[in-house]
Amino acid sequence: NEIRIFCPATIANVSCGFDVLGLCLDKVGDEMVIRKTGNNQVTISKIEGQDLPLDTEKNVAGVSALALLDHLGSTQGFDIEIYKKIKPGSGIGSSAASAAGAVFGINKLLGEPLSARELIPFAMEGEKLASGSWHADNVAPALLGGFSLVRSYEPLDVIKLHTPGELYASIIHPQIEVKTADARSVLKHSVPLKKAIQQWGNVGGLISGLYTEDYDLISRSLHDGIIEPLRSLLIPRFSLVKGAALEAGALGSGISGSGPSIFALSRGEDTAQKVAEAMAGGYAGSGVDFDIHISGI
Ligand code: HSE
Repeated sequence: NEIRIFCPATIANVSCGFDVLGLCLDKVGDEMVIRKTGNNQVTISKIEGQDLPLDTEKNVAGVSALALLDHLGSTQGFDIEIYKKIKPGSGIGSSAASAAGAVFGINKLLGEPLSARELIPFAMEGEKLASGSWHADNVAPALLGGFSLVRSYEPLDVIKLHTPGELYASIIHPQIEVKTADARSVLKHSVPLKKAIQQWGNVGGLISGLYTEDYDLISRSLHDGIIEPLRSLLIPRFSLVKGAALEAGALGSGISGSGPSIFALSRGEDTAQKVAEAMAGGYAGSGVDFDIHISGI
């Protein structure tokens, strides 16, 4: 009647795949305790680590839980405790972790009426509350693990991709907050054909590289000529930090989700560690405080 779960952080976009690609971190995330109650309410009794609303209708976990229970026609009550370790507005899927965690835990306690993939639309309801936009590239990998691709939004078609075993992520989070809604408002609504051609070439290359575990191909494909040039202006020292990651041996580096976190992917944990140190060096003397994470995928 009670479950304690790990709610993973995620890196959306992964450079070339704006709104369609995402990956799940296996070491960075929140925890959540969900228990059945004797009434028909969804309550959030505790949030530790961040100042977030306890009101069910204003909380991403609460909204996702209500959407799922409504779909299932269930009147079972649940209480949720959230232990936040991911900072909201950091770009590693804080809201998605809570949204995905709530629907995953409730589905488990109800005897798994739905598959993980079928839970995605309900987690997206919570994500929409937090970011103002309907995107699945954080909640899908949080629910499915590894890399995932949103092939289509209408109808929703999400594919779990192969994840090479030696791939590690280094993430640096400069302590400024960039709201997803703001980071989306700087984007242009049309893309020149030439840039679109490069981008879909890279998406295909990256996915092929994941399946064939071809790290050189993964490296060649980790580019974003559409979103990164606009959003990087919101992130202090972006080019310096990215350049330091590449010089230290990263396969590629870019903005994590809508930022301000910057991620790099590396082959092997030792390289990921060196890359993380080099990225930290990029903020030396800048007065910008930062957090660093290294994680498998
Ligand atoms: N794909 C979304 C964006 C992810 O980049 O706006 C937000 O975390």
